[in-house]
Amino acid sequence: MSQQAQALQTERILDDFAAAVIDGLSDFPRQIPCRYLYDARGSELFEEITQLEEYYPTRTEIGLLESHAAEIAELAGAGVVLIEFGSGSSRKTRLLIDALQSLRAYVPIDISDSALSDAEQRLNSRYPRLAVLPVHADFNQQMDLPDQICGARRIGFFPGSTIGNFSRTEAENFLARAAKLLGPGSALVIGVDLKKDPKILIPAYNDAKGVTAAFTRNLLARINRELDGTLDLDAFAHRPVYNESAGRVEIYLESLTCQQASILDTTFCFSKGERIHVENSHKYTVDGFQEIAKEAGWTAAQCWVDKRDYFSIHFLKHD
Ligand code: AVI
Repeated sequence: MSQQAQALQTERILDDFAAAVIDGLSDFPRQIPCRYLYDARGSELFEEITQLEEYYPTRTEIGLLESHAAEIAELAGAGVVLIEFGSGSSRKTRLLIDALQSLRAYVPIDISDSALSDAEQRLNSRYPRLAVLPVHADFNQQMDLPDQICGARRIGFFPGSTIGNFSRTEAENFLARAAKLLGPGSALVIGVDLKKDPKILIPAYNDAKGVTAAFTRNLLARINRELDGTLDLDAFAHRPVYNESAGRVEIYLESLTCQQASILDTTFCFSKGERIHVENSHKYTVDGFQEIAKEAGWTAAQCWVDKRDYFSIHFLKHD
């Protein structure tokens, strides 16, 4: 990307962020979309979260991929193109690349230029003969895939239960868009976190070392840095709550005092105990998820679940 295009993109991201924060904090209840948790520091902290003892999803999903990569490859067939939504942790991607037979190309799709070039570099050095064709795009928007993969059968990969961070409607829309993008004859391998006892869920989002709390609070630091904010980071607490009826962990930043802060040229007053909703992490049952996938045009071909019933990987087909 040219320097000028990069500068324009940064400006657009900043405008979107400013609008989302000012509008979201003016709303009742107050909310900020969770995609803004992932600036460079937020992405580093999320990487740390995935290594935590309490955060079972990453480890469990990798275990499932290690055990079932050969079956996934068998279902996928030979000569496919692997298309990943997000540029992915190299460990998960590698497990699939290693298993797929005569893989034609790997296409990572990501909104972050640096995440894409990291993925490209890592994979080029490990698989010098594999065509890596990065697509710089927001996978929640419509996009075009590279001409080089025209006519090849496509296998989508969306690990990590990122779908859990979408509302039910967003999840269905994503799955429908993925079906359209990948086309008839394609498949989607998707990791989905399962409903479980809140005694397991809450510590996964409130670890003893405070990494998840730092991840949530980093949003306030980002607002201060990028939007000229005066938020007092120590005056907000990280509060994860399991909402049983909605089947999701909700994450809030809770004001510990009655306080005032300015962001750009707007002043906000927070009462003690008032919350800003910053993230949802939906948990599904296998059947519940497959129903949504069906609505979006997919057929559930296979599903693997670990021994503790914590996490699921689905192989969905689009006829
Ligand atoms: C990226 N996503 C699937 C994580 C989750 O579990 O919902 C984000 C996360 N937030 C706090 N901890 C992990």
